[in-house]
Amino acid sequence: MNDKAFQRCIDPDCARTFDLLDVLSKCPDCGNLLDVIYDWERLDVPGSLAFFEERWAGRSRPLDFSGVWRFRELIPFADPDQVLTIGEGQTMLKRADTLAPFVGLDPGNLFLQYEGLNLSGSFKDNGMTGAFTHARMTGATRAACASTGNTSASLACFAAASGLLEAIIFVGSGKIAYGKLSQALDYGGRTVQIEGDFDDAMARVQEACDQTGMYLMNSLNPFRLEGQKAIMFRVLEGLGWQPPDWIVVPGGNLGNSSAFGKAFIELEQLGLIDRVPRIAVINSTGADTLARLVNDEGLEWNDGRVDDAVIDRFYARMDEQDRRARTVASAIEINRPVNLKKCLRTLDFTGGVVRAVPDQEILDAKAMVGRCGIGCEPASAASVAGARTLRREGIIEPGERVACILTGHLLKDPNATVAYHSLEGDELADQMADFEVKTNEFANRPVPATNDLDSILKAIEEGG
Ligand code: F0G
Repeated sequence: MNDKAFQRCIDPDCARTFDLLDVLSKCPDCGNLLDVIYDWERLDVPGSLAFFEERWAGRSRPLDFSGVWRFRELIPFADPDQVLTIGEGQTMLKRADTLAPFVGLDPGNLFLQYEGLNLSGSFKDNGMTGAFTHARMTGATRAACASTGNTSASLACFAAASGLLEAIIFVGSGKIAYGKLSQALDYGGRTVQIEGDFDDAMARVQEACDQTGMYLMNSLNPFRLEGQKAIMFRVLEGLGWQPPDWIVVPGGNLGNSSAFGKAFIELEQLGLIDRVPRIAVINSTGADTLARLVNDEGLEWNDGRVDDAVIDRFYARMDEQDRRARTVASAIEINRPVNLKKCLRTLDFTGGVVRAVPDQEILDAKAMVGRCGIGCEPASAASVAGARTLRREGIIEPGERVACILTGHLLKDPNATVAYHSLEGDELADQMADFEVKTNEFANRPVPATNDLDSILKAIEEGG
């Protein structure tokens, strides 16, 4: 067994350590999050990131094919024969010159990391391969998650493809986009629709796992985040190992931002990068706990001694006002992000910033991403809308290199896309009443025509 990796509580005053094979989602002593920690001195780490390019030649081997495990020396908690991979992480960094002017960047400076290319259509597969590998090492037979849709699609996909364990899925009833629900159902995940939202489902799944011993697949699981570090390795790879100035990522449960920060902390510690990109985490204004806590309440990492009183007061006020998350970006419709503290660590280490962008700007940005021929779901476009906001504010300079993470595929949420493009005026406002989306400046309206050639040709030429 691997004795060079273990788990440790992130609170420096606790710092209790646990065996690699312990199945825990939080420190049993103090309730804080856990990290996977490596004894790098005793591990064989390449001297340069360019080492990983050689792995491309070995694509017939499943571990080298995986966009996660071909970086296995940087995620070294499993022996190669224990790894469970389904071919995740075949994604790309695309230079987006046609989108750069919309964001306000000089051509050549905007990049989109398109995670919609994963098997289940979102970035979650990067983490799921990590968690499934750990689940296999511990002998788990049942795994559960709460989800706004993508985690559940990924869990069900891995369970079906591997046959390793049974997938149990908790979703808020009516709270997940149809593309994602259809995946969970088709892949055979046992799907429990709870009367409540994601925050309710997240609380219940933890109770259910504690009581029954089911393996928890949410990003509270530190092995999920180990896999998600690979998204950053691939961004660096796409840029010839030169870190960009900015990484911009949507923030929901804050797993990605937490994983990205850990990746850069470790890369710097290992001497594999000489510069750390700043990470911008983007909430929707309808689910903006992180933005409020950081920008209004001044919450900070504070060397790991986060002021819990500020967080408790904030949540108490939220409950008093019965304030629920509500956003058209349903994937990030989350008001109690479980990885909050790890995300604060990322912001601290990278000189990061947080912004909340309105749903209107998210859907406008989404339409513009679509015009690049990529397409993404609404939550993903928060990264582009956020980069645009930060450019407008002068925080990002036009000459800086920016990588926006597109977390999920366009087809995950076709309803939002079709509504944006096809509705007008009151109809649009009615359909989007919950989301404060009133206009669709970048809509590409379908054109009606009667069933005769003249009408069709007229529609083609004149737009109906
Ligand atoms: N983008 C998409 C497409 C997502 O599905 C999620 C999270 C996020 C962004 C936010 O990422 O949680 O790492 O900050 N979806 C989770 C789910 C919550 O259940 O699928 P995060």
